[in-house]
Amino acid sequence: MAKEPERIDLEQSEAIAALPHAPVLLVCSGDKEENWNVTTIGMFNVFSLFPIVLGIGVKTSRNIYRLIADSEDFTINVPTAELLQAVEVCGREAGARKNKFKEAKLTPEKGKRVSSPIIKECPLNIEVRKLSSAKKKSIYSVHEGEMDIGDHTWFLGQIVHTDAWKEYDRTKALLYWDGEYRLADKCLKGKEE
Ligand SMILES: Cc1cc2nc3c(=O)[nH]c(=O)nc-3n(C[C@H](O)[C@H](O)[C@H](O)COP(=O)(O)O)c2cc1C
Repeated sequence: MAKEPERIDLEQSEAIAALPHAPVLLVCSGDKEENWNVTTIGMFNVFSLFPIVLGIGVKTSRNIYRLIADSEDFTINVPTAELLQAVEVCGREAGARKNKFKEAKLTPEKGKRVSSPIIKECPLNIEVRKLSSAKKKSIYSVHEGEMDIGDHTWFLGQIVHTDAWKEYDRTKALLYWDGEYRLADKCLKGKEE
């Protein structure tokens, strides 16, 4: 008989760190060009598939929190390994008094359907309108599309536009797992034909 795997107790924080890795994202917001800024965000989740509702978890102390709270939208920009340094700059520096695009050598561009900018150097740009700004409110019951849970506020929203580079390869997207930056380039089983 096969030997049963040994099981060990994990602390709550160890349990979270044991979960599979997640994307690291460059999130932009700002209702007008002079307010645009960018921050690194790891707390991301898909909250609904029909319709698709995405969410990001942001601490109220972040400059990007104020920008998103004061605007109708934000953008999710997926970096590649080449942008690791920019990801670190945007995840370390506070944007309250500086233009982090410049510091991280990133180029903000006008979004197609939102006031927030997208990042030219990122191969995937997702434009998200906050649920609180959606015309049809029947699809959710969270007040204003924002949830305060512990030390993070979750901003929920729907995709209004997405641009992807033709050669975009999601296995080259940068992931962040318990302090480590990784790539998800190993597929163990493909989709059934
Ligand atoms: C890999 C990584 C992931 C991060 N994820 C989050 C996150 O999910 N939520 C958050 O509020 N801050 C997160 N941060 C921290 C912010 O990016 C950081 O505090 C930043 O300096 C805030 O800048 P701001 O004040 O201009 O918004 C993360 C930082 C790094 C490096």
